[in-house]
Amino acid sequence: MRAGSHRRPGSRPQASSRIAVVGSCNLDIVTYTDRIPAPGETVIGRRLLQVPGGKGANQAVAAARAGAEVSFIGAVGEDDFGELLATALRREGVITAGLRRVSMPTGTAHITIDSAGENAIVTIAGANAGVSLNERDRAVIASTQALLLQLEIPLEIVVAAAAVAHGAGAHVILTPAPGPSLPAELSRFVDLLIPNESEAVALTGASSGDQAADLLLAEVPAVAVTLGARGCIYRERGGPSLLLPAFPVAAVDTTAAGDTFAGALAVALAEGRSVEAALRWAMAAAALSVQREGAIPSIPYRQEIDSFASAREQARALH
Ligand code: RIB
Repeated sequence: MRAGSHRRPGSRPQASSRIAVVGSCNLDIVTYTDRIPAPGETVIGRRLLQVPGGKGANQAVAAARAGAEVSFIGAVGEDDFGELLATALRREGVITAGLRRVSMPTGTAHITIDSAGENAIVTIAGANAGVSLNERDRAVIASTQALLLQLEIPLEIVVAAAAVAHGAGAHVILTPAPGPSLPAELSRFVDLLIPNESEAVALTGASSGDQAADLLLAEVPAVAVTLGARGCIYRERGGPSLLLPAFPVAAVDTTAAGDTFAGALAVALAEGRSVEAALRWAMAAAALSVQREGAIPSIPYRQEIDSFASAREQARALH
């Protein structure tokens, strides 16, 4: 069974920002159940979905649906799952000249979602272990406004891509997951780190997301810690310190909410919005994504983000 993508509302406006993503592609095999089983336990599931995902592909689609011209660099296998992922990216207008077909099986993610929409994920890297950078990829990265990175491909490729972008003056944005990990060889090239709260705490040993955000400023110039239904914390060296509440919604599946946030935030910042406006817009995108099932099928289009954000802002102004 495959989840169909919701209808694309309206035509895509002319892209005003250029984003590159170097990262993973996975075929997500998703089971919905009341609760995630404990070790050694079997639970009865309700449904099975197979949908395109992977943190890299999710962020690429999030940025494309948010209105950017997006180039994706990654790898899939020479198999049906690889074809499905390549097609899913191309359908969004993502430039896939940097997507290799390698002789390894396409990466998979085995995801269990509970009745609160929370997930547990096991990924198998497969072809993601075969991502490489050639001269054309380096030129694409060097000419982008922002580079989105995650940690589902070999670390040396993430570091190499970050170094090229940093050297060219592009904004380097890292989601330090899975892991989490933030080696110094990578953090020195990162402009904005986007961990979720548990990742931020694990990276620093702090007792809260707030404290973790402060500590992470020793490693990177700016941090946005996502807090799920509680919103997001932002810290920047010598810049604003923000705590923004989330838009209250009923979550059915939180998979790819962080990727949606990262993609939309990259676009809003590349378009020159203020940090606060960009964060609010990215939170609106994430709020839409958690109300839908699946990874890529859950990611909203720009028009939807605009309508949701302005309706919620108007409602807030009336109260
Ligand atoms: O961030 C969500 C993603 O993590 C899923 O799409 C899955 O593929 C895993 O990589």
